[in-house]
Order: sequence, then C-alpha cells, then structure tokens
Amino acid sequence: MTLHPIVERAQRHLTPALVIDWPLVVARAEGPYVYDPDGKAYLDFASGTAVANIGHRPPRVLEALRRQMDRLIHAGCTYYFEALAELGEKLAQVMPGDIDTFFFSNSGAEAVEGAIKLAKYVTGRSAVIAFEGAFHGRTLACVSLTTSAVKFRRRYAPLLPEVYHVPFPNPYRFEGTPEECVQATMDALDRLFETRVPPEAVAAILVEPIQGEGGYVVPPVSFLQALRKVCDDHGILLVLDEVQTGFGRTLRWFACEHAGVVPDVMAVAKGIASGLPLSAVCAPRRIMDSWNPGAHGTTFGGAPLSCVAAIATIDTIREDRLLEKGQALQPGMMEGLRRLQDRYECLGDVRGLGYMVGLEFVRDRRSKRPRGELVRRVLENALADGLLLITCGRYGNVIRWIPPLVVEAEHLDRAICILDRAIERALREAG
Ligand SMILES: Cc1ncc(COP(=O)(O)O)c(C=O)c1O
Repeated sequence: MTLHPIVERAQRHLTPALVIDWPLVVARAEGPYVYDPDGKAYLDFASGTAVANIGHRPPRVLEALRRQMDRLIHAGCTYYFEALAELGEKLAQVMPGDIDTFFFSNSGAEAVEGAIKLAKYVTGRSAVIAFEGAFHGRTLACVSLTTSAVKFRRRYAPLLPEVYHVPFPNPYRFEGTPEECVQATMDALDRLFETRVPPEAVAAILVEPIQGEGGYVVPPVSFLQALRKVCDDHGILLVLDEVQTGFGRTLRWFACEHAGVVPDVMAVAKGIASGLPLSAVCAPRRIMDSWNPGAHGTTFGGAPLSCVAAIATIDTIREDRLLEKGQALQPGMMEGLRRLQDRYECLGDVRGLGYMVGLEFVRDRRSKRPRGELVRRVLENALADGLLLITCGRYGNVIRWIPPLVVEAEHLDRAICILDRAIERALREAG
C-alpha cells in the first residue's frame, strides 16, 4: 500500500512508540465528517477518540475561540480571566450531586493523576484500588493503575507502590447472572481487605463506569452502587474516571447518572472542550478545601481558549438538546446493530450505554475466542467505504461505536449499512 506523502513525512520525525490508527490524512473536518485531501468524506464514528462529542469544529466553539483569540490566549496561573470563572459556574451546573470545585489541567492522564493525588492528600492514606482491564492514561502513576494490556507497563517498573487490582465485572465473559457477576468482584474486594490491605489504608477506589480501552465493558448498574457502599463504609473516596464516558457520550452528562451514584472525585477530559486540551479534577468544596494551596499546580491547565471551548461545548449540548436528540435515535441504532448480531455469528456481543457501544467479535458464540484479525479487515473495509472506526480491547476484537451526538438517523442508518457490507466482505476474504 502506498502511503500519502504527508504520512511519510510525518513518520520520518515521529517516534514509532506513537500509534496513529490509520494512514489516513485529514485535510478538513466538520460535524460528523472528516475529509481527506481529495475531498473524500468519512463519517467519523470514532469521534476523534471520544473527543468530538458534538462533532468537529462546532459553530459555537469556533465563534468563542475567534472571540477569545482577539483578547487573551494565555494566563499561566499568573492572573484571572472571565472564562475561568464562567467555566466553573457552568460545570457545577452539570456535575453530579454536590460536585462544584475544580482543578483544571490538560489531558485525561493529568486529571486521573490529580484525582489520585487529591485522594491521598485529603485521606492521608496511601493505597489505591483499581480494576483489571482498566486504562487510566500514560503517566507513570496512570500506567501503574492501568492493566488493560501489558504493553502499557512493559519496562516501566518500578511503578507506583500500594496499587491493588481486582476483577472488573464483565457480564459477557461471566458464567452466571449480572448480580452474581458483581458479587464476584465484591467478594474479591473483601478478600483483598482480609488478606493484603486493610480498608483503613485505602485512599481511593478508582474506576471507569464503562471500561474504555479495556474493551467497552459495561458492568451491571448495581456495580457502582456496591462500590459506593464499600467506600462509605470505610471512608474511602470513590474516584470515577469519566474521561471517556463523560460529556454526553452515554447520552447523560456523565455515565454515573445511569447508576444514580455520585462519586467523591471525578476525572474528566476528552469531550469537555471539543478538541482543545482541557481536563479537570472535580470534587465537592468540602473535599477540595483540604487540598492546601500549592499542593498541586499547572502552567497550561485551564487556558483561556480551552475554557471558552468548554463553555461553548456545554452550551451546545444544552441548547441543541443533544442528549435528548440522541436518546430518541439510540434505540433504533441499537436495533440495527442487534440485527447485525443476529446475522453474523462472529458478532458475539453488542453492548453499551447511549452512544458508547462496543461490538465484540469472536470465533464462535460458544468459545467466545477473540477475533481481532477479522475486526482489522472489517475496519479497513468500512474505511474504504467512508466510515471511520477504531478498536479497543486487549485483542483488538472490539469495535468502538461512538458516533458524535450531532448525527441524524440517516447517518446512523448509513453507518450500519457500511458496517454490514464490511463484515460480509471481511468474512468472505477470511475464507
Ligand atoms: C478512561 C480514560 N482515562 C484516561 C485516559 C487518558 O487520557 P489522555 O490520553 O487525554 O491522557 C483515557 C484515554 O483514552 C481514557 O480513556
């Protein structure tokens, strides 16, 4: 396959450690589409890896950026500016429960790292519990908390001490009812407390409401509720990593709302500012007030352009009623995807909340052996037909189906048709 000259030029100076999913060059993007240099349109059902939740270059965001560019683009924690105040106010309105206080940073990893620092600082405890299959980012602390694949950890030891992992409830790969699946995790947690770390030494339980990179694994709703109770019983902070699940991805502002659970601390990023670098550690004032001045800091976090982009993103979700719009279209989309599951034995599971759906491909329904190489073919075929998708899961056998919230029914129908053809062709090619 001949590579576009831009790909070749870029690769000459980029480290091979950085993986870019497709050798595709994008010259322009708008709404649910990205366009290559020849003007070919691709429906972006990867949403820029769950960032362009309200589509690419959303009009309100562009307008806010232009206005802000003419005034101030850098503050560097030297002084205040209006968008910093307005973003705090806006975020407090959409946060779960009494969360109303924020530390702004640039990336998801920074937000998770900050959330863990906050939990350790305010509890005075050292241990952190995370889950098998979790992905929390690439800094050394986040890598220590990540177990979605060993490539993220290889050769980086020694990692953060006092990190413990327990199994994440995965109903598709558990023999038993959803309740038994959750109970198995809670039993593992009890065993951990009885044998390895006492609960009073644990600062935080860190969890993704839906595992992202780990394979779009959706736990039963009782899981977060059970974790909330354990945390309350032992004075442990429940820290949710809503980096990928937040800002409308599950057609609620945050995924924890599906379980009716309010965390103590939340890390958010990705969709918050429609592509401008921004993330936040979020907690109620009563918790944040114990984080003393100077205990954490940043140069670029909460920069003026990122703040106005986030304000415009929140306004767009609200004023265009994007959550409600998605909620109306999502059942039809799920029906279409489930029809594909009925048709293809290799599509073992279709699961998700809102517009965060995982399509898991297996050899057969009984063995459930992962079939990553088939998924690669499916995605190549889909790309050739103008649908951009990416994978997740340790074996690359799960397709992330994450359309932007601005899609119409016709986009969803077309994407399902393209996927149908792509699977059919991939199966033929695989023989
Ligand atoms: C759940 C979760 N946490 C943290 C991160 C890290 O975010 P970033 O790449 O912005 O550092 C990601 C990124 O994919 C993520 O999905």
